[in-house]
Amino acid sequence: MLTVKDLVKHFPLKAGRFSSSEEKIHALNGVSFTLGKKQTLGIVGESGCGKSTLAKAILGIKPADSGSITLDPPDTRMQYIFQDPYLSLDPKMQVKDIITEPMTAAGMITKKEVVKEAQRLLELVGLPKDWGTKYPHEFSGGQRQRICIGRAISSRPGIVICDEPVSSLDVSIQSQILNLLLELQDKLEISYIFIAHNIAVVLYMSDIVSVMYAGYIVESANPQELYADPMHPYTKLLLSVVPEIGKNKRIFEQKITGEVPDLIHMEAGCPFYSRCPVHKDVCRTAIPQLKPGEKSDHSCACWLYQ
Ligand SMILES: Nc1ncnc2c1ncn2[C@@H]1O[C@H](COP(=O)(O)OP(=O)(O)O)[C@@H](O)[C@H]1O
Ligand code: SF4
Ligand SMILES: [Mg+2]
Repeated sequence: MLTVKDLVKHFPLKAGRFSSSEEKIHALNGVSFTLGKKQTLGIVGESGCGKSTLAKAILGIKPADSGSITLDPPDTRMQYIFQDPYLSLDPKMQVKDIITEPMTAAGMITKKEVVKEAQRLLELVGLPKDWGTKYPHEFSGGQRQRICIGRAISSRPGIVICDEPVSSLDVSIQSQILNLLLELQDKLEISYIFIAHNIAVVLYMSDIVSVMYAGYIVESANPQELYADPMHPYTKLLLSVVPEIGKNKRIFEQKITGEVPDLIHMEAGCPFYSRCPVHKDVCRTAIPQLKPGEKSDHSCACWLYQ
């Protein structure tokens, strides 16, 4: 449904006392992937690695500098769900108008049909159908995220980009929202791009997981494979710090330290070099490309495998 090729997005740094105007933040450095029908592509990586930049580039909110985004069919609708359900709902609008907004904006329904459509959508996301006349402040965080989900699916999108949809919610609510997303995917045949910094959540939700580091995808595999046999040293780090995974499986004994990468002064070679406990001289010479390993659906960008 979606083919993304070589997306690049660099943000210029404003010229100031400490920086020249030529300096840039290298937020996306050539990201490629495909997404099939009813599939979930998970994107995981630590804060600042370019996940939201990728989401916004695909949606056209902050277009990429170069690269291509191809939808098949070309009129496939895309919608999004963002992290903070408090910021993404207009406090002055009634929920029935919020939840049907993409439909009215697209001319899919008339004003008369708003109440009925809102009732249908509220039920679909597990809220009482007569709550449409309420305002966002009358809802809890989890309920607000249900409204955001209802709004996202209202215009029957083929693809929904979920950018950290549960990161701001109580842990007790998170699994309810994740399961709602899975249930709706089954009913409505939606494809998801599911973004999170928590690898356990991404493994649970996804058919394919791509691990991002410093604006690059460094590893891609199905979740079972990625969990059982991670290749990239950074993926091993992510898995080792998840308590419930790390406890039972000593995947990576060696502690990885170091700062998050400097996206302004990118060094030659592998972007993970400065934090990688197994780096070699060759790692400084050129950027490792994402290449399939022994299994063709498991790719990794690391000189250890090339
Ligand atoms: N509008 C912007 N202007 C300048 N820099 C930005 C902008 N948006 C994001 N960045 C920078 O791009 C990098 C990636 O950010 P982001 O995509 O938000 O990461 P993530 O969502 O993975 O936390 C960060 O260094 C961030 O500061
Ligand atoms: S290419 Fe080298 S530095 Fe980069 S992750 Fe692999 S081993 Fe580490
Ligand atoms: Mg983000």
